[in-house]
Amino acid sequence: MSNSPLLSNCTAKTIRDAAAALNAGYLVAFPTETVYGLGADARNPDAVKRIYEVKGRPTDHPLIVHISSVNQMNKWAIGIPDYAIFLARAFWPGPMTLILNRLDIAGDFITGGQDTVGLRVPSDPIALALIEEFEKISDSAIAAPSANRFGNVSPTTAQAVSDELNRHLTPNDQILDGGVCTVGVESTIIDCTGKKPRVLRPGAITVEMIEEATTTELVSSTSSEEHPEIRVSGPLNRHYSPSATVLLDQLPIAGQGYIALADLPTPEGVIRLASPRNNEEFARVLYTSLRNADTQGLPQIVVMQPKGGGIAVAIRDRLMRAANRD
Ligand code: TXA
Ligand code: MG
Repeated sequence: MSNSPLLSNCTAKTIRDAAAALNAGYLVAFPTETVYGLGADARNPDAVKRIYEVKGRPTDHPLIVHISSVNQMNKWAIGIPDYAIFLARAFWPGPMTLILNRLDIAGDFITGGQDTVGLRVPSDPIALALIEEFEKISDSAIAAPSANRFGNVSPTTAQAVSDELNRHLTPNDQILDGGVCTVGVESTIIDCTGKKPRVLRPGAITVEMIEEATTTELVSSTSSEEHPEIRVSGPLNRHYSPSATVLLDQLPIAGQGYIALADLPTPEGVIRLASPRNNEEFARVLYTSLRNADTQGLPQIVVMQPKGGGIAVAIRDRLMRAANRD
């Protein structure tokens, strides 16, 4: 793996420089507690256009706007239901994105032309410091998707960002190195435009946590009757995928990669990629393990899916997409 000249360790000065780079229209990849994001000034259409080019992502896929606190919600969204305020107070800063009706400041170039905007306050201290600094100098916020090429596995280290995107970045862009992401899978996305919340993408903020914070039952995430227009990346098609074929819940054979909880043994000749001790660790190491399989040139990876609720729901959601060959 080559070291990128774009990578920098984070000090107060590098964060100030990164905020200045965003303000000048460049891209800054930064750590969050979920995965690394590829950031641009959310009010600069040219800068945001470059995000889509660098990722190779279709422009009708909307971006999440990263803000520094609950107090910034009213700047980007309108008609915010009470339950969304409860959620924001309960889980921000944290791994949760709220889909809300947008104000004009959230341009079509962010929202893919939809009437809604996705907002998130990340808890990673480097992410928060960068957003705060950028809001101070720009009166804007940071639009950021995960910092991977479209359809690939999200990066959970700065080196993985560099491996994915370095070829597509310029010397004025930056990658902030904040170590390994502590959650490891993308934020929970909650549609807050209806009478009740609806989970569009499962994550570390679980259905049980949402129901408790809002004292409301969720709308089933499979019902699209209320908002057929809401788009989230690839509801069923291939996504979050390594080059290797991902096979679920079968006995691995020699030559295959293997990811499973630590209590499951490794059959002879199988290449063990990860042995997490619990579901939280499973989420944290999953994407790096899938990347390692590709680095080692393994053709196939067998993953034994974790059972039960909590973060396991998000892990199974991503694995189902990674395993889909359509
Ligand atoms: O954890 C995360 O959410 C990471 C970090 C960097 O914050 N970001 C992330 O962004 O995963 P991205 O773009 O890779 O995935 C965000 C998903 C996309 O599938 C997008 O379609 C959906 O959120 N999304 C964004 N805005 C939306 C909106 N207004 N309505 C419906 N879906 C939206
Ligand atoms: Mg993504």
